[in-house]
Amino acid sequence: MAGLGTRFLPATKVVAKEMLPVLDKPLIQYAVNEAVEAGADTLVFVTNRYKHAIADYFDKAYELEAKLQEKNKEELLRLVQGTLPTHVRAIFVTQPEALGLGHAVLCARPVVGDEAFGVILPDDLIDHDGPGVLFQMAQLNADGRTGVIAVEEVAHHQTEKYGIVDVESINERSSCIRSMVEKPAPMNAPSNLAVVGRYVLPGRIFPLLEQLKPGVGGEIQLTDAIDGLLHEQSRVLAYRFKGIRFDCGNKLGLVRATLHMAMRDPALAPTVRDFLSKAPSGDGTAYLGQG
Ligand code: G1P
Repeated sequence: MAGLGTRFLPATKVVAKEMLPVLDKPLIQYAVNEAVEAGADTLVFVTNRYKHAIADYFDKAYELEAKLQEKNKEELLRLVQGTLPTHVRAIFVTQPEALGLGHAVLCARPVVGDEAFGVILPDDLIDHDGPGVLFQMAQLNADGRTGVIAVEEVAHHQTEKYGIVDVESINERSSCIRSMVEKPAPMNAPSNLAVVGRYVLPGRIFPLLEQLKPGVGGEIQLTDAIDGLLHEQSRVLAYRFKGIRFDCGNKLGLVRATLHMAMRDPALAPTVRDFLSKAPSGDGTAYLGQG
């Protein structure tokens, strides 16, 4: 979470992008809920020095909690105390310089050690009416060695925004990754199967990350280290997840995610639907249900 969030300036002058809300919860809360559901008992937040609000958010808020208790606001108290379950440890690591996603993951090495671990990029909010994506992926890593990467088909002209995989299909959802390339131009892309912000990786990725030279954009790319795993004949699966993804790293994605979540909330849905149907530019319901 060490990015600058330039697409949301000026708000992100002071508010970390991950603290932007979708309805009443910040993006980071959706990521934490998904990780905890997948079985994580230790969460490592890789942030930068401007993002202390994230640590504050998961910390105990004594004054607020005492006030809510005094006023018997039980439900609000439950919300405030429920940001992090008590059995889960939160560890905050700063990435001193924004040197890329691969470098950010490497910053977590002292905490993670040699174990398999999951990575969530909170910008990619993925909603599923059933087990979350990281939970789905963790099931495919029973041996602790198999890498699993969430993928989704994107329009050909969009390959430049994503890591793109070349695969050999196993079944409807899973494929073996043959190779992987970061942000290829459409004419060089091996497919239109794009990596989205969920990974399950073996600890072996760390030494590979450590040896990497900067790649696309002058950054240490996680994609390049995963390609290194493939060169060592490690098994890495591309997984077409169950769920709907919203790219909340841009305004339209955040708006869509908000509408989607509002439509899933029985208290809000009828009013939101009514509001959209009266939108001046025509049938607002056309916005709904799109990723
Ligand atoms: C990162 C990864 C890219 C992946 C994307 C998913 O890129 O490097 O491979 O497809 O996340 O959101 P970024 O969006 O940080 O440029």
